[in-house]
This record gives sequence, C-alpha cells and structure tokens, in this order.
Amino acid sequence: MLAALWLPFAADAANMGISPLIQNVPGRQTQSLDGHWKYILDVYELGYYNYRMAEDANGWFRDQKAQRPEDLVEYNFDTAPTLHVPGDWNTQEEELFNYEGNIWYRQKFQVRLQGAERKFLYFGAVNYICSVYLNGRKIGVHEGGFNPFDIEVTNYLKDGENTLILKVDNRRLTEGVPTVNTDWYNYGGITRSVSLIGVPSVFLRDYFIQLKKGSADTVAGWVQTDGGTSQVDIEIPELKVVQHVAVNADGYGTFEFKCNKLVRWSPDNPKLYKVRLTCGKDTVEDEIGFRTIEARGKKLYLNGEELFCRGVALHEEAPFRSGRAWSREDAMVLLGWAKEMNCNFVRLAHYQHNENMVREAERMGLLLWAEIPCYWTIQWENEATFENACSQLETLIGRDKNRTNIIIWSVANETPVSEPRTAFMTRLADLAHQLDPTRLVAAAMEKKELPGGIMTLDDPMADKLDVLSFNQYVGWYDGLPEKCDRVVWQFSQDKPVFISEFGGGALQGYHGPANQRFTEEFQEDLYRHSVGMLEKMEGLSGCSPWILTDFRSPRRVLVDIQDGFNRKGLISDKGIRKAAFYVMQEWYARKKAESAKK
Ligand code: GCU
Repeated sequence: MLAALWLPFAADAANMGISPLIQNVPGRQTQSLDGHWKYILDVYELGYYNYRMAEDANGWFRDQKAQRPEDLVEYNFDTAPTLHVPGDWNTQEEELFNYEGNIWYRQKFQVRLQGAERKFLYFGAVNYICSVYLNGRKIGVHEGGFNPFDIEVTNYLKDGENTLILKVDNRRLTEGVPTVNTDWYNYGGITRSVSLIGVPSVFLRDYFIQLKKGSADTVAGWVQTDGGTSQVDIEIPELKVVQHVAVNADGYGTFEFKCNKLVRWSPDNPKLYKVRLTCGKDTVEDEIGFRTIEARGKKLYLNGEELFCRGVALHEEAPFRSGRAWSREDAMVLLGWAKEMNCNFVRLAHYQHNENMVREAERMGLLLWAEIPCYWTIQWENEATFENACSQLETLIGRDKNRTNIIIWSVANETPVSEPRTAFMTRLADLAHQLDPTRLVAAAMEKKELPGGIMTLDDPMADKLDVLSFNQYVGWYDGLPEKCDRVVWQFSQDKPVFISEFGGGALQGYHGPANQRFTEEFQEDLYRHSVGMLEKMEGLSGCSPWILTDFRSPRRVLVDIQDGFNRKGLISDKGIRKAAFYVMQEWYARKKAESAKK
C-alpha cells in the first residue's frame, strides 16, 4: 500500500500552514467552536490591505481596541453583529444575499492547556479562500470551498481565552476550482462546523480499513501515526478481531487479515461494525462497513451480485430553507426523500458534501458517487489550478475513504474535450486510482449525436475511467420528449453505462398541456419517455436524474417560473413532490423487484 502519496499538497501557494488531514474527527475528543461569531463586512478588503494595497501588519486580525479616548481604531468586533456558524452568510442576512467578497469572523474560546496534549483547529469547509489568524498570528490559508482542513495550533494557543479570526473570501476565480461559471449558488462563509481537536503527543492521524480489492473476506489497509512510531492495535469486537500493526520510521504500517464471518454492507443491509483503533494513549472509535464493488464488462457488481444503481442527484442545499445544508437533520430529510423514491444510490454533486450527509447515507443504505468541482471550463493549463484540484481530490478521498457506501469517485463534470483538459483529467483519474485502488473512478461526460439518431460517447476519457458515465438531456435541451423514443444508444467500450444526469424543469403546482415547458405535465411526460429510452439502453447499470430538489442558481432568471431556482427538481424547494417524482418512484420499485428476483 502507498504512503508518500498521502501527504496533501500543503506547500502550494494557496494552502499555507495546513496540516495533514486527521481521519474521523467525529470519533475524536473535540471542543465545538460553533455558535454566533462576530462579523465585519469588508467590501474593500481594508481589514487586510493598507491604502497602498500592501498587506497591513496592523490589519483587523489584531482585533484592536481603543485603549484611550484619543485612540483611533475604526473597527470593533465587540460591537459587531453576528452570523451563525455553521451556515452560509447569504441566507442569514438580507444585505448579504448576493454578496460575493470578504467577511471577517471572530470567535473567542477558552482552552485549558494540559501536559503534552496537541491541538488542531478543524474546519468542515469554508467557502472559498480562508485566512486563519489565532491570537494575532497568521497561521494558515486554505483555498477550496467544500473540502475540510485542519491546522495544528499546539504552539499558538494560550491557557485561557483565545481569539480566532478568519478572513473569508468567496469571490469566484477564473483559475479556481470551481471556476467562475457554475449552475449553483455561490454560498459564502463558514458553511460547516469548526472544532478544536485534542490528541496525545503521539496519535493515530489517519487509517484506511476496507476489504482488499477483489476479496470478499480479506480486510486490508494502512495506518499513519503522527508524533512517534507507536504500534497501532485494531479491534473489531463483534468479529473477535485483534490486530497489532507495526509501523515504520515514518509512522506508517500496513495490515491484512482474513475475516470470513463478516457480514457485508449493502443497501438492503447497511451493516456497520464498531472498530476501535489504539495508538499509545490515543484511542479512536469508528463505524465501518465492508463490501466489494467491481465493474466487469458492462455490469457493476456489489458483493459479487449484479448492481443497478437506482439513483438521484443532489446538491448540498438545505431542505425548505435553502442555504447550505450541514446538519444530520438536513441529511436525514434529503436522503429520506431519496429513499421514498426507492433509490439505493445518490450522486453528491458537484463537490465534496458534508460528513453528516455521507455518514447518514451509509447508515441509511444509500450508495454514493462523490465528486470534486472540476466543473465546465476549468483552467486546464494552469498548474496551480491542477494542484488545487489534486488537493480537493486528496481530501475528498482522504476524509471519506472508510465510508463503505461510496463506490465512485468522480473527478469532473461536463468538461469540454481538448488535449489540455484530457491530460489534466487523466492525471486526476490516475491519482484517484493510486489513492484508492478499491473503488471506481468516473466523471460526468457528455453524449454525442451521430447522423441517423445514433447517440454515443465520444470522449477520450471514456477509455481512462471505469464507468461510461455521462449527462444527457434528450427531450429538454436536445429536442422534445418524443425524441427519446427515436434515438439509439451505441457504445464501443465494454464498460457499464451510467446516466449521471437527465431530466427537465417544472414549477411545482404549475399545470397545463404536456407540451407546455415548465408545467408538471411536461416534466412527467419527459420522464416517461426518458425511462422508456433508458430501459432500451444496452449496458445501463444505473442513473441519477437531475435532480432531487429545486436548488438556487443565479443562472435561472425566468420570472414567475425560476425566480433564481433551477426547477429540475423532482421535489420543489418547499418539499412538495412533483408528478415526475412518482414516475421515478414507480420505475425504481419495478427495478428493485427485478433485482430481488435475480
Ligand atoms: C448540467 C450541469 C448541472 C446543471 C444542469 C442543468 O448538466 O451538470 O450542474 O444544473 O445541467 O442545466 O440544469
């Protein structure tokens, strides 16, 4: 197994002071820093730059206060309003609704420093560039709005009150990942939880425990300690497993052991085992499932049985209130709707979703597709953009590699075919395979129409990825629903076919003739034709219609219909099922019955 590959790109310009990611933060000793944080809007970045646009050594990170009446300090966090963390700023304050820019946050917290304990600040996600200051010192900078990061603060903490200040900048960047144009809302802020992790001086920083590729009963993986080379013990009490793993000088060790009483995880039986890992004084508990996933010929196999992914795509947007979803409750509602639609699979689009979503899906028996936001027109020839994409891929896999319900890592969505693009994506796909040889690697590609109504995939990435996954909008962006009845799909590759997006829009409650765009009748009719087309598609191993719920997008401006929402949801932003929802629910019930018979 692989060691060096797991050191994230801490050194690149955009990420400064970021520590290697700590595995399984929910299983650690943590102090939550969530709550109401003071904030100051900084449209002109004057908290960072002086009037000569040079970084100001006396910037707002100093949290200064006027000491004497004559002192001139033109900002004050004490009297500032607050924003709730976690939470995007856009849906908390009307004036911030469409704000893209900088906001400074401050949180004060108490710490009791004890012995040799080490401390790390952990951020679930901050959109987009986050500069971190602790007690007046700049300790880190992180770029990426959806991936977690941590910073060691052992040497920067004070015994007693500490002051944490974040400069958060959610402006879209051409060289960014994602880049400037997306079909989702650019929610800004500290969108997921922040916590202070306490660990012993020698601790277990990371581990990977899954079934060995191609094996139904051999558990294999690795451990990575930090701060010393203590042995790591792995216990799975329910299976009477006790493994002692020796580590090398870098604190890295591998293991492999037979486990033939193991019940494998599946959507019908999402079996998880309590796993306890001990490294010196450090003990971490996790809930881990074990399953095999393979692509063989045109089929997918889960635990050796043919798998059809009854999926739906999902944005990380909160049900009913919109804004970024972050809580377990948000996840339970959204995933509950997917289950109600008879899904066994969810595509988490187009970026890393919060850990509550991934773990809740694992408990609920939902397989997952997880993706990084290499979306549309990324700067393929920009090496810093590539490193940023790699850093996001590393944390996507790094955080969730022990979540057995994730079967597909996706490196991109709808990217225009070109040589620089294919080179960029090939390197990403190779990295994903190296980081995790046990799962499938894919991307959402785009279909191509040939003369005579032949539909196919003509993308060089199709040969480099494990699944032929693509988005197709026959009947919505491409013709009318009847076109689904006429087209024929042909693929030259001997791989499973997966439709990562299809569908069309409807305003819930808007009724009319089936040829009237945006009526529920049009969407329902489109889904009926689409299902008919998919049923005829050779090698189809699954699909994820676009999309479970309506979601906010600045690209959707049609008054009285879209009003800032992409209306392709099968459920409205108010949680009301549209007619097309029942078309999918019924089809998936049939597919489920068919699979049960096999
Ligand atoms: C694209 C894209 C989605 C977008 C959808 C749409 O396929 O991947 O992000 O929202 O189309 O147009 O609704």
